[in-house]
Amino acid sequence: MKAAFITEPGPADSIKFGELPMPEPTGSQVLVQVAAVAVNPIDTYIRSGAIAMPLPQPYIVGCDLAGTVESVGPDARRFAPGTRVWGSNQGLLGRQGTFAEFAAVDEQWLYATPDDVSDPSAAAGALVGITAHLGLVRDAALQSGETLFVNGGTGGVGSAVVQMAKALGARVVTTAGSDDKLAACVELGADLAINYKTDDVASRVREFAPNGIDVWWETLREPDFDRTVELLATGGRMILMAGRDARPEFPVGPFYIKDCRLFGFAMFNASPDQQRTAAEDINRWLAGGQYRPRIDGVLPLAETAAAHQLQEDNTIHGAGTLAGKIVLTP
Ligand SMILES: NC(=O)c1ccc[n+]([C@@H]2O[C@H](COP(=O)([O-])OP(=O)(O)OC[C@H]3O[C@@H](n4cnc5c(N)ncnc54)[C@H](OP(=O)(O)O)[C@@H]3O)[C@@H](O)[C@H]2O)c1
Repeated sequence: MKAAFITEPGPADSIKFGELPMPEPTGSQVLVQVAAVAVNPIDTYIRSGAIAMPLPQPYIVGCDLAGTVESVGPDARRFAPGTRVWGSNQGLLGRQGTFAEFAAVDEQWLYATPDDVSDPSAAAGALVGITAHLGLVRDAALQSGETLFVNGGTGGVGSAVVQMAKALGARVVTTAGSDDKLAACVELGADLAINYKTDDVASRVREFAPNGIDVWWETLREPDFDRTVELLATGGRMILMAGRDARPEFPVGPFYIKDCRLFGFAMFNASPDQQRTAAEDINRWLAGGQYRPRIDGVLPLAETAAAHQLQEDNTIHGAGTLAGKIVLTP
């Protein structure tokens, strides 16, 4: 089968595209014929070696996938051949990745794809959707009528957070770096979108939520906690999930005096049951149109190296040329 893989960590152009043996599904694994995959920033950190993880040799890159069950291992019970499925959390913690024509994935990480949802859409919404759901529902327990702020409303995570927060009944304020992206945020359902390059974000947020923000979802790798804590409501919750090297100052007094709470998480630590709970709501919202994963572009799988470069240019170097997910098809 054709696959995008590395033999050792390195820059984007160290990704090779070529023939590897077809995987055999063992135990409770399911062999998926992959129809679409999506790039996440963590794919680039693992490929570059910035995050050290045990890697199969060779290592097929990628976490997300959508496709059709080809065959099942002897202990797999959940899916029959021919069922359309999507999933995430592959290529992590020693597991093989998904950027190939076929992937053997344990059934505990797969979910049936709703009939009217395309494979590119299911793949694009996978890791970012589960991430958004874990933070909003499991951790922050966002309630209908509350206010939510998220930076980067057209970003991979940001666009999922905007849509799911609206599905949960919140008032949503987000930011973006261009007029086109501001319009896209409003299309996704944001009640207010602020240009973080030209507007005074703090004063616009104060106008929008005079009593403060109930849930502040921080996607920035270098957050400004003095500003954020000042803008939080009494009883506000803050979610941190980016910037593993960040060591910013934290205003302890202003934080605890308002009964605020802080959550940090990495989606790959969530158990299969926690991820499945997220996936069940995601499937409902995908089928009902409340969650339309935002796709920036679709490339052939052979272009994986270029896709990694594009993701890295944006997430790490702030190029601003991406507005959603990069999807690839074998
Ligand atoms: N902990 C976890 O489980 C987890 C899961 C997924 C992702 N992450 C991490 O979360 C981060 C975001 O991931 P992603 O997939 O959403 O990346 P992404 O698609 O590259 O999105 C980044 C977003 O940040 C926005 N942005 C950049 N600079 C900004 C600024 N100064 N002010 C406001 N917004 C700004 C960009 O907006 P413009 O395009 O408008 O400039 C863009 O929307 C990454 O660091 C990733 O590694 C963590």
